[in-house]
Amino acid sequence: MNREDFPMLKQNLIYFDNGATSLKPQQVIDSIVDYYQNYSANAHRGDYDISLKVDSNYELTRILVKEFIHANSSKEIAFTSGTTDSLNKIIFGYFRYYLKAGDEVLLTRSEHASNLLPWFELQDQIGIRVRYIELDQSHRVTMEKVKEAITPKTKVISIAHITNVVGDIRPMKEITKYAHEHGILVVADAAQSIGHMKVDVQDLDVDFLAFSAHKMCGPTGIGVLYAKENLLTDTKPIIFGGGMNASFDTDGTRIYSEIPTLLEAGTPNIAGVIGLGATISYLTKIGMEKIEQYEQELKQYLMKELKKIPEVIVYNEESESGIVAMNYNGIFSQDLAIYLNKYHICVRSGSHCAKILKDEIGIKNTTRISLSFYNTKEEIDQLVMALKNPNIKIDII
Ligand code: ALA
Repeated sequence: MNREDFPMLKQNLIYFDNGATSLKPQQVIDSIVDYYQNYSANAHRGDYDISLKVDSNYELTRILVKEFIHANSSKEIAFTSGTTDSLNKIIFGYFRYYLKAGDEVLLTRSEHASNLLPWFELQDQIGIRVRYIELDQSHRVTMEKVKEAITPKTKVISIAHITNVVGDIRPMKEITKYAHEHGILVVADAAQSIGHMKVDVQDLDVDFLAFSAHKMCGPTGIGVLYAKENLLTDTKPIIFGGGMNASFDTDGTRIYSEIPTLLEAGTPNIAGVIGLGATISYLTKIGMEKIEQYEQELKQYLMKELKKIPEVIVYNEESESGIVAMNYNGIFSQDLAIYLNKYHICVRSGSHCAKILKDEIGIKNTTRISLSFYNTKEEIDQLVMALKNPNIKIDII
């Protein structure tokens, strides 16, 4: 779908590493080049035309993000450098003050490092307790397991909307409903969902949401921290400097700006914000429902074809997203990725930053195929052909 928009696809390349980052359409590239070529002033600091144009495009993106995720207000949208930055700002800017020693945070063993390590740090700093929601046999989160994990001390559940290796779509709406009935806040890491399905924060009723532009066909180095307005208002900055203060004096007295600029110290990634705006316009034009449906079809086709190869072991057969974690019997995952590269097929191998998932699936390293709407069945056929090569083991040596 829409392949002609992606300059990278003009190369001899089959890109199946969309979980790591996505390709960028010309429309997004053009918006960034336009900024650098024609109005590359700073934001919120100038009174001349090109600077005012920057301000207007920067704030327009905030409105586009608000509409894209169906937030209540653009005050609920702060720009960050990506999902990791957003999660750190949530954990150290909000939960650092909200939680007390002994409070419990529920995570899962299939989370990405960026939704585990900051919580481990907070555990060491203030004595909260990290606990895990057990996963079912298909490595998925079920409501039953969520209910089992909750105790009177549970104050927050922080989980990915879609995980980056198992690729399961979590029942966020049911989780937030049950959590809120028990006074528990919910943080959603939407890095792997935002570019692949409609994410509606009011419908899901999540309290915090984090995502990156680069996994949704946008630029690197720009992301979003969403929080319900009352929660973002209570989120303290963890970075201080220009742009986030109204005034300060020699004696150290200072008045800070309001959210969301309070959380955007320093010259922001203006080109990134403008590129994110173009990304949202691009995806909205195609339609997130259409993208989701097409990727589902591709995934089903991929699974059907992989099942025909006896040597292929798939670890996440049940998951709904376009992510497949697999191995080829007798071949190390990285060797397989290097082998596929000979066919110009890009996949990721290793632990994919989900380093405690090994305790769930019983294997440390996998080869991950992650699909996007610009992939095709023909590309899957070429992957399958490479995997069916009777000389695969000899070719790897
Ligand atoms: N989080 C990215 C991935 O899953 C980098 O590959």
